[in-house]
Amino acid sequence: MGKRRVKATICNEAGEVELAVLEGTMGPEALDIQQLYPDHGLLAFDPGFRSTASCKSAITFIDGEAGVLLYRGYPIEELAEKSNFIEVAHLLMLGELPSESEYEDFWGSIRRHSLLHEQVLRFYDGFRRDAHPMAIMVGVVGALSAFYHDAMDMFDGEHRLQAAIRLVAKMPTIAAASYTYSIGRPIRYPRNDLDYAPNFLQMLFGVPSEEYEVNPTLARAMDLILLLHADHEQNASTSTVRMAASSGANPFACIAAGIASLWGPAHGGANEAVLRMLMEIGKIEKISEVIARAKDKDDPFRLMGFGHRVYRNFDPRSRVLQKMAKEVLDHLGIDDPLLEVAVKLEEIAVHDEYFIERKLYPNVDFYSGILLRAMGLPMTMFTAIFALARTVGWVSHWLELQGDSHGIDRPRQLYVGKTLRHYPGKGKKQQR
Ligand code: SDX
Repeated sequence: MGKRRVKATICNEAGEVELAVLEGTMGPEALDIQQLYPDHGLLAFDPGFRSTASCKSAITFIDGEAGVLLYRGYPIEELAEKSNFIEVAHLLMLGELPSESEYEDFWGSIRRHSLLHEQVLRFYDGFRRDAHPMAIMVGVVGALSAFYHDAMDMFDGEHRLQAAIRLVAKMPTIAAASYTYSIGRPIRYPRNDLDYAPNFLQMLFGVPSEEYEVNPTLARAMDLILLLHADHEQNASTSTVRMAASSGANPFACIAAGIASLWGPAHGGANEAVLRMLMEIGKIEKISEVIARAKDKDDPFRLMGFGHRVYRNFDPRSRVLQKMAKEVLDHLGIDDPLLEVAVKLEEIAVHDEYFIERKLYPNVDFYSGILLRAMGLPMTMFTAIFALARTVGWVSHWLELQGDSHGIDRPRQLYVGKTLRHYPGKGKKQQR
């Protein structure tokens, strides 16, 4: 880390103090304020963490101004074109692209852990058939803690990797079961003769009464969706996982917390919200009305799939997903008017002063819903698929922070409540 220092003037008896500036390998430098409170009794105020680096990480880099996304230094566009989800999982979790033999070992270890304990499958019967798949996934993944808690010594690197592999391996089975359960279809077992994405598709769409035939275009599309959603720096759900993990909580419980955080419509729930919005718009003629609502300060409506806390340019993932959505629709011979509405909505919005001024561009969620719908997925599964993919990123950050020595994450606050006051009157109130 660089040794550049800046002077910060603290207007109290401390006078002027020097704070170190920490340099990473890329991206913004960070003012080291760790001693600001212990040495000077001052807190930094940053609700929403717009200007806060919560940790050091070597996994994913985003340049929001330039619309750049790198997984361990590799551009997302190159990985989308040349790699696959399992290879990217190895890259994110272990730091490097695998050799042929490393790939086979890694994929073999994932394949061997894709089954769920039969008792876990019984949790599904406790849910109503119309339960949202994300509600089921939060519950079932959290419940895995009850099945592996004792077998894990979190201080053992092998045990940690085993837990991470188990989560990546079981998520497709859990997510697919959340869907088939909701439509009254028997839960399907994973097949070890299929790759990750096609195996997920056969668990989603296969029926016991006939052989499932993998559609290579849909399998490639699903693999790409998973790859693009795998990680994204310190987003809300990843930060949730890191915070839960900082207390030493069981990794299954930490990932369940991440699923819960991802579900929100401002985060991973946006893909479902985008499709609902496009369906509500329905036709190009209604776009101007929606744009007006999005710009109206008195209207809480936001253009779902637009804007991003970090990207102040196009989210590179939305470009790849737009192209794949068109390919899949053409391959299936589907003429989805919603794609036309989405493309027109984007065209109008990105040329509108309100969006330009606020640097609001389509994000990863803007086209993913159209692609998933074309593939036959119900809207309620869109965020479940996001959670399935992001499990790789969550476990990568979970593995990375095991080497972190800063202890439990425990932010402070700017207290604005009542000052000290005392209980009125004497003695205990008579029991009413
Ligand atoms: C994901 O963090 C990640 O990396 C997340 C993610 C990942 O891979 O993990 O990339 C996945 O969550 C993508 C984002 C999906 N969410 C949506 O598409 C929901 C719609 N977008 C917004 O809710 C919003 O843009 C956020 C939540 C994404 C970002 O919000 P910010 O950075 O807090 O922006 P803001 O609320 O401060 O808005 C700044 C201005 C405001 O206007 P002013 O008060 O300055 O006049 O922009 C406006 C906002 O009203 N604005 C929008 C808008 N988003 C922001 N106006 C209309 N439509 C929108 N979508």
